[in-house]
Amino acid sequence: MLNVNVDYVKPAIDSSDKKALEQEIASAHEKLENGTGKGNDFLGWLELAKHMKHQVNDINTVASRLKESSDVTLVIGIGGSYLGAKATLEALKPYFKNNDGPELIFVGHHISSEYMADLTDYLEDKRFSINVISKSGTTTEPALAFRHFKTLLENKVGKEEASKRIVATTDKEKGALRHLAIQEGYDTFVIPDDVGGRYSVLTPVGLLPIAISGTDVDQLLDGAIQARKDFNERTLDNPVYQYVMARHSLYRQGKKLELFIHYEPKLAFLAEWWKQLFGESEGKENKGLYPASAGFTTDLHSLGQYIQEGERHLFETVISINNASRDFKIPQTKANLDGLNYLSDQSIDTINKKAMQGTMLAHLDGGAPSILIEVDTLDAVHLGYLFYFFELSVALSGYVLGVNPFDQPGVEAYKKNMFALLEKPGFEEETKVIKERLKQS
Ligand code: PA5
Repeated sequence: MLNVNVDYVKPAIDSSDKKALEQEIASAHEKLENGTGKGNDFLGWLELAKHMKHQVNDINTVASRLKESSDVTLVIGIGGSYLGAKATLEALKPYFKNNDGPELIFVGHHISSEYMADLTDYLEDKRFSINVISKSGTTTEPALAFRHFKTLLENKVGKEEASKRIVATTDKEKGALRHLAIQEGYDTFVIPDDVGGRYSVLTPVGLLPIAISGTDVDQLLDGAIQARKDFNERTLDNPVYQYVMARHSLYRQGKKLELFIHYEPKLAFLAEWWKQLFGESEGKENKGLYPASAGFTTDLHSLGQYIQEGERHLFETVISINNASRDFKIPQTKANLDGLNYLSDQSIDTINKKAMQGTMLAHLDGGAPSILIEVDTLDAVHLGYLFYFFELSVALSGYVLGVNPFDQPGVEAYKKNMFALLEKPGFEEETKVIKERLKQS
C-alpha cells in the first residue's frame, strides 16, 4: 500500500549512523508500545481504529439524520478538531462537485468577521445543521462561531428543532460545551481522554463530518487497522523506520525545514493536517524540523527558485500517488502548432510523474534531497493507512528527538495575551501588565 524511497536522499546515510539510528528508533518504539515514554496518557490513537469500529453505526445514524434535515452542515472546530475532517473531505471528493449529501462548510477555525458575515448571508435560504467539535469545550474560536450560528439556527427554526440539528463532539464530562449540550439536549459524541487533538481524526471528531460527506468511514478505519499491523516490525524493513531515519539523519546534517510536497491539489489539506501533527508534536524545547508544504508543479513557478538555489536548510517529503484514479491521454493534432505532438498519446499522469522525477533530481543536485513516499492509490482505505503511518512516524520521531510528542504547551502563550487584551474575567493582572507594556512600546 505504501513504500518509502530514499534514493533521492544524499549523502546516503552512513551505515554506522544507520545502525545507531535504527536502535534509537526501535527503543522509541519499545517505549511507545510499553507506555513508558513521555506523554504516555495520550496513546489511545494506537488502537483507536479498532475501537471506533463499534461506533460506526451510531455515527452513520446521526450522519443520515443531519443529511436529511440539511442543505448545509456547519462543522465548527479548529486545529485537531478541524484539519483531519477537512483533509479527508478534500482528498476524497471530486474536484468540481460535492459528494452526495449536504454541503459541508467549516467555520470556527479563525476569527474572520467577513467570513462569518458572508456565511450568515449564504445560509439565509438554506436548511442547515451544526456539528460543533471541541475536546476542551472552551476554545475561543469555535465557541464564538457556535454562539453566533446556534443563535441564527434557533431564530430560524425555533429552539426545539435547533436542538435536533445540533450535534456536539467533546469530552465525556468536562468543559463548557459538554455542559451546554446536556442543558440543551443535543446528541453528543465523546472524544476519548487518551487521544490528543491532532491524533483525533479517526474519533468522532473526524468521522462524523466524514460520514456526512458520504465517505465510508469503515474503509478509513480498515486502512488504519491494516497500518497498525503492517508497521509493527522493529527493523528498517518497516517504512515508518525508513521515514523516521531519513528525516532524523537529514536534521542531524543541518536541515531544519521539511517541506511536504504533493503533485495533487486535493492533498493540500492533508499537508495542513501533517503540518499541525508534526509542528505541534516536535516543535518544542528549541528543537524540531519546521514543517512546511508546497503543491507542485504549481509552486515550482513560485517557490521553486528558492528550493533550487536558496538557503540549503531544507529537504522534501514527497507524496506520490502511484495510480491516479482518473487519467486521459494528450490528443495528436495535425498542425502541431503548440509543438506538443511529442507528448501525444502520453497520459497526463505520466507527464506529472516525469515532472516529479525531474524535480527531485534537480533539487537533489541543488542540495535539497527528497524522501519519496509512494502510495498505491488515493481512497479511504489508503488515507486511513496514511494517517496512522504519519501518527506513528511523528510519535517515534518525537521520542528520538527527546521531546513529548503528545503535548503542546506553546499554544497557550497567544491565548493568555488575547484574553488579557479582551479583559476576560480572571485575567485582571495580565491585563494590567499588557496594557503597561503597550503604553511603553
Ligand atoms: O492538537 C491539539 O490539541 C490542538 O490543536 C487542538 O486540537 C485545538 O487547539 C482545538 O482544541 P479543542 O478541540 O479543545 O477546541
